[in-house]
Amino acid sequence: MKLARRMEALAPGIFAELARARAKKEATGVRVIDLSVGSPDLPPAPHIIEALRKGVENPRNYTYPLSGKLELHRALAHWYKQRFNVELDPATEVLTLMGSQDGLAHVALAFINPGDIALVPDPGYPIYAASILLAEGELYPMPLLEKNRFLPDLTLIPPEVARRARMMTINYPNNPVAASADADFFKKVVEFARTYDIVVCHDAAYAELAYDGFKPMSFLEVPGAKEVGIEFYSLSKTYNMAGCRIGFAVGNAEVLRALERIKSNIDYGVFSAVQEAGIAALTGDQACVRQTATTYQKRRDILVEGLAKLGWQVEKPQASMFIWAPLPRGYRSSMDFCLEFLDKTGILMVPGVAFGARGEGYVRIALVQKEEDLQEAVERAASLFQFN
Ligand SMILES: Cc1ncc(COP(=O)(O)O)c(C=O)c1O
Repeated sequence: MKLARRMEALAPGIFAELARARAKKEATGVRVIDLSVGSPDLPPAPHIIEALRKGVENPRNYTYPLSGKLELHRALAHWYKQRFNVELDPATEVLTLMGSQDGLAHVALAFINPGDIALVPDPGYPIYAASILLAEGELYPMPLLEKNRFLPDLTLIPPEVARRARMMTINYPNNPVAASADADFFKKVVEFARTYDIVVCHDAAYAELAYDGFKPMSFLEVPGAKEVGIEFYSLSKTYNMAGCRIGFAVGNAEVLRALERIKSNIDYGVFSAVQEAGIAALTGDQACVRQTATTYQKRRDILVEGLAKLGWQVEKPQASMFIWAPLPRGYRSSMDFCLEFLDKTGILMVPGVAFGARGEGYVRIALVQKEEDLQEAVERAASLFQFN
């Protein structure tokens, strides 16, 4: 069988190699502590599960949903107003998605012609680049460097590249680098997008996983943002609903209409029971969101403080569910380090290079296991690694 050329963009690569190494380790009887994939391990709040249960028991919910319920869009618009003071028209400025991944994967099809440039973060969450390659666009990676607080330096993008660019993807709080952005950066993005007529897609999947009282911004809080782009928002991390597959794109009505047109040819919408669970999540008691953030904050502290005692100094992130750790002294290849760490300790992390060339030199550690397991991870590392 001869696969299409675009399949090369979807090569399993590093993640497949990690899965093989993990299986090999488990075959020796070791319990692997998986700190690789960013899938929330916490349950949704009981009122969300109850709404889902009721929705599942309603026989009327089994027709094709086609689009998001207006009540759901109103709930999200109200939530955005409360949380970010951003006004959204529920009818035209909110689009329901089967998880934000759905929108991130498809939006390029609406804006990228073969050969058009898209500006994507490097390192970056993999779908940002994969979606452009599936649309046969050309990637222009924007390096996220520690010296720039992991924000892309837009002044380094050559004007001839910017003129050919149709889209820019940004993501704060960021996966994998766990950095956050401020209004100043978002304002620069708006100005850049206006100058070069670029559609901006901001991914805000981790906006609620923030620590020590920090409140990440919405891109749409910045004047002019709605004229140049959209924001992806997900219920996966905020409410631990990752398996339910529900998220949103909000902002520029024209961009949303285009994305909706693509999607109307591909899918029939989010199961109505899941939409009802989404309404319950957005309109119900928000204490569960704070509880989730507190849980991740404790995990972050156990890991960062534990590793510091071993001599591995790692920055405490303000937000996101990840730690982006520079390789300990003496290591050069993030893949080699992750494989050795897995082999010696049974702890699985993701090499930074899996997220792009500029991720080399780092590993991503996901805070997706219980405190006891993170404590055990530190102890295992202590008995086998000397980082000084
Ligand atoms: C940065 C980022 N965006 C989007 C997603 C996908 O989220 P969803 O479950 O809404 O599709 C993830 C999932 O891990 C992510 O890390």
